[in-house]
Order: sequence, then C-alpha cells, then structure tokens
Amino acid sequence: MRDELLDLAGALKDHILSERESRSGVSRLYLKGDLGALYPVPPDTDDPERESGVVMSVPSVTLEDIRTELGDCTRCKLHGGRLNIVFGEGNPHADLLFVGEAPGRDEDQQGRPFVGRAGQLLTDIIKAMGLTRDAVYICNILKCRPPENRNPEPDEIAACEPFLVKQLQSIQPRVICALGKFAAQTLLKTDTAISVLRGRFHSYHEMRLMPTYHPAYLLRNPGAKKQVWEDVQMIMKELQQES
Ligand code: URA
Repeated sequence: MRDELLDLAGALKDHILSERESRSGVSRLYLKGDLGALYPVPPDTDDPERESGVVMSVPSVTLEDIRTELGDCTRCKLHGGRLNIVFGEGNPHADLLFVGEAPGRDEDQQGRPFVGRAGQLLTDIIKAMGLTRDAVYICNILKCRPPENRNPEPDEIAACEPFLVKQLQSIQPRVICALGKFAAQTLLKTDTAISVLRGRFHSYHEMRLMPTYHPAYLLRNPGAKKQVWEDVQMIMKELQQES
C-alpha cells in the first residue's frame, strides 16, 4: 500500500513539474488522509490549506532555471570587465541567506561569492554561528565585479536585482542577512544608514531581514565586530525558534 502511495505521489509530482513547465502556475499539491501522513508538512503557516496535509511543495522556479535565464549576461555594462559571473552558492533550501554587495577580484577570478579576505571573515562568522557555508546560501546584489571595486550604480542594480529576487523566491529562506549598506538599502528600498537599519529585523515579503555591517567594513573597523555579533545572535535565536 505504501509503495502504491509513493508511486502515486511520484506521478503527481511529475504532473506538477510538467504543469509548471507549461506555466500554468500550479506549484503545490494537497492530499488529505493517509498520503498526508507519509510526507512532512512544510512550515507554511500562512497557507489556509496546510491542515489538509501537504504532500509536496514544488518551488515555482529552481536555482538552475534562474542561472539558465541569466545566461552569459550582457544586461549591464559590467559584463565587459568581468571574468566570471558570481551567481551565488550554498544550500538551495537554506533557512539563512547572506546577501553582499558585489564580487571583488578574488570572487571574479573564482566565480564564487565571498572567497577573499572579507569572505574569510564571513566564513568565520558562519562557523561562529555553528553553521557551515554549505548549510547557508551566499550571494550578492550584483553578479559581476564593478571596476576597481567601485560602488554599484543604480542601472547595474536595476539590471541585476530581478535575479536576486528570483533566487530569494526560489530558496525562501527564513532569514536574510543583508551585509552592508548596499544590500540592506537595495532590498529594503530605503536610504537609511546601515548603522540605523542594523540591530533589528525588518520584513522582506514573508521573510525576516537582518541588516548588519559588511565583513569588509569589519576588516577596517574591528570595533564593530561586537555589533555584528549581536546581530547574528538575534538571527541564531530566530532560527532556533520553531517555524
Ligand atoms: N564583498 C561582497 O560584497 N561580495 C563578495 O562576494 C565579496 C566581497
């Protein structure tokens, strides 16, 4: 009986995936009764149908879909100077997602986010939280390196942000940690200073967003590590709470 139910669930999953491909918008499947018991119910408290027993939840777009759509991007002027697109990396189902500003030289060379000096500090922060880089997701507002690491420009953010938004929608982390002024101000659509934004949670759609100082700022201002530690402790507490 259990095998039959699993076969049925598999067939339904295939059906949903093909529906998704045909862009019909079906992304969830609800079954009542025994089947509901076979599969864990996702922590989707806002969903009025949760009680009916969700057997599977198919994200409407995968990270692979988004990477494919991004392609060999030429949507902004940064494409001319880059070696590699830095799409992001980590757990596609992460509860915690870090967003930085833009790739630097090391990231551009390796095609991976936060692998230089600031990246080492971020890795240390993640370890101090009792996590690993593989357990979280790490990405940036911009996917290409600005020349000489200058600040991102509005047209570059406008071209790149839709892909970040899609990544966030696909991963649906419980908490976003916005590293530095550009990440926090871009996501929260504000020009309030990072020193004012940090230290408390903000709402980003149905996710919680904690702004904190960028690791590169911490390298120049080690005294601010105390505040970052306070911020990440609030994140840890939030993640420990039952969803
Ligand atoms: N700084 C960022 O904001 N992102 C990186 O990936 C590296 C450094």
